[in-house]
Amino acid sequence: MNHIRNFCIIAHIDHGKSTLADRLLEVTQTIAAKDLQAQVLDNMDLERERGITIKSHAIQMEYQYKGEHYILNLIDTPGHVDFSYEVSRSIAACEGALLIVDATQGIQAQTISNLYMAIEHDLSIIPVMNKMDMDSAMPDEVEDQIVELLGCKRDEIIRASGKTGLGVNEILSAIVEKVPPPVGNSDAPLQCLIFDSVFNSFRGIIAYFKIVNGTIRKGDWVKFVATEKEYEADEIGVLKLNMSPRDILSAGDVGYIISGIKTSREVKVGDTITHVKHPCEKAIAGFEEVKPMVFAGVYPIETEEFEDLRSSIEKLQLNDASLTFEPESSLALGFGFRCGFLGLLHMEIIQERLDREFDMNVITTVPNVSYRVHTKQGEMIEVHNPSGLPDPTSIDYIEEPFIRASVITKTDFLGAIMTLCLGKRGILIKQDFISGTRVEIIFDMPLGEIVFDFYDKLKSISKGYASFDYHLHDYRESKLVKLDILLNGDSVDALSSLTHVDNAYTLGRRMCEKLKELIPRQQFDIAIQAAIGSKIIARETIKAVRKDVTAKCYGGDISRKRKLLEKQKKGKKKMKQIGSVEVPQKAFLAVLKLD
Ligand code: GTP
Repeated sequence: MNHIRNFCIIAHIDHGKSTLADRLLEVTQTIAAKDLQAQVLDNMDLERERGITIKSHAIQMEYQYKGEHYILNLIDTPGHVDFSYEVSRSIAACEGALLIVDATQGIQAQTISNLYMAIEHDLSIIPVMNKMDMDSAMPDEVEDQIVELLGCKRDEIIRASGKTGLGVNEILSAIVEKVPPPVGNSDAPLQCLIFDSVFNSFRGIIAYFKIVNGTIRKGDWVKFVATEKEYEADEIGVLKLNMSPRDILSAGDVGYIISGIKTSREVKVGDTITHVKHPCEKAIAGFEEVKPMVFAGVYPIETEEFEDLRSSIEKLQLNDASLTFEPESSLALGFGFRCGFLGLLHMEIIQERLDREFDMNVITTVPNVSYRVHTKQGEMIEVHNPSGLPDPTSIDYIEEPFIRASVITKTDFLGAIMTLCLGKRGILIKQDFISGTRVEIIFDMPLGEIVFDFYDKLKSISKGYASFDYHLHDYRESKLVKLDILLNGDSVDALSSLTHVDNAYTLGRRMCEKLKELIPRQQFDIAIQAAIGSKIIARETIKAVRKDVTAKCYGGDISRKRKLLEKQKKGKKKMKQIGSVEVPQKAFLAVLKLD
């Protein structure tokens, strides 16, 4: 155990975590440079394209240092706020962390939030300043920020580049020198911390764990504490580039277990694995049931694709236990599912995977957060859908989730960002200067407000120089109303939303305006109205037009005519018939991006 080092890399998105991890694998010859695909640790296509490590993985390296042989386990952490619970469990499996800061960007919101998690778990921190090869690197300034943040010495900060390999050997020796070996007792009852799981179509669910105490052997009967399920350990092993089976693993080791588990829901990140016969007294602390925070309806464009959509979502869920779904129906959109996501990015990822991996063309409705509705009878109902709101007369009060958000930006943008956050019903908690020109602002804000255009706005007003991070803080009472949209008098349930009463008028007006832009003129006038209950609060009209697409090829050749008709038919496919009105698919989402 003295020769094991378990560490993770924490960094803000795009600061070069994956690239640097590749260099570590290369230098330790875990993988030959020629076999190194762009980024080994991000092995989903989508991840590579987005450059976001969605799922955490682990990999074992071997390293010779001063004549001794060491095992270095790198536990990868996802880099986005939606996955912060997974990050916290990966961190809990480590004794040390490389804190990577991009020398051209400096400290950003997730650098700090991840660092706090690492400090909470008593990890030894090795500060690394990355991208030193770039002309725009500002080593002195960023070094100041790191010193300020960590209270370390300047010469403890390793200057590195994932691109050129600068500093990589220094990082490896720092891992051996500074990260303590795991503590734990191999003879104690078994306690393994599950920090991740993946689905494999041949082997089922593979759970990744770190053994905190005890010893596990192939064939042992084990129990997953939170789910209370028992399994036989068909295969255990360590994670190299591929899985490498072992007969025995003990305290301090990081490995995997395959035990015939079929669905991701049976394996919960943060759960403890122990022996059936000699169970541990207590589960490892920190386990949480992750709950989806953002909900939206997902509907097939073609109604007959409902069953295909169900099987696609089921397949996605095999891999991703945090995705929830239940059937729902909408007058406007027919049969579909109400899906629950960890956050907005998670929602986008699922949407994109449905499209790419399953070729499912779907309409996603306006997302909303989960509200707590307290009735006059003293009941509390969780409402995930505007249509699920009970009769207003029976409601005592409604609570909505609030987040504590941190924004790091240049002082130049401070005013504009304050205005944005206050406009989103944010409450300023405090503001700290990180260095002369950079500031961290902490806000409490309703989660429901960032579901709409918050990220885009933040990005544009700060010209990209603001980073954002948040976690759920509490629930607070709010005056919420249901805003309906009517097309020619028919309420379009898929466009309904729950909103704060102060925002309802503006939102209603902007939605009407936006829909007017997006719905093509048809052969009759279309009235677009926004309403709260029976009260109309905004209205727009789309004037009728008689559109004859073939008119312009009067006398023209028939093939051209046919092409135009084909084209029109295709255009139709992306439309949804609501009452008498045809509504393009993008209208359902565009309301999210109101200017
Ligand atoms: P997430 O997985 O999204 O958190 O990103 P990451 O932190 O893993 O960053 P990644 O390694 O994907 O790098 C982000 C971008 O920076 C990529 O375009 C890399 O090619 C580039 N990059 C990473 N390290 C360096 C470096 O040391 N020098 C230069 N010039 N570019 C780098």
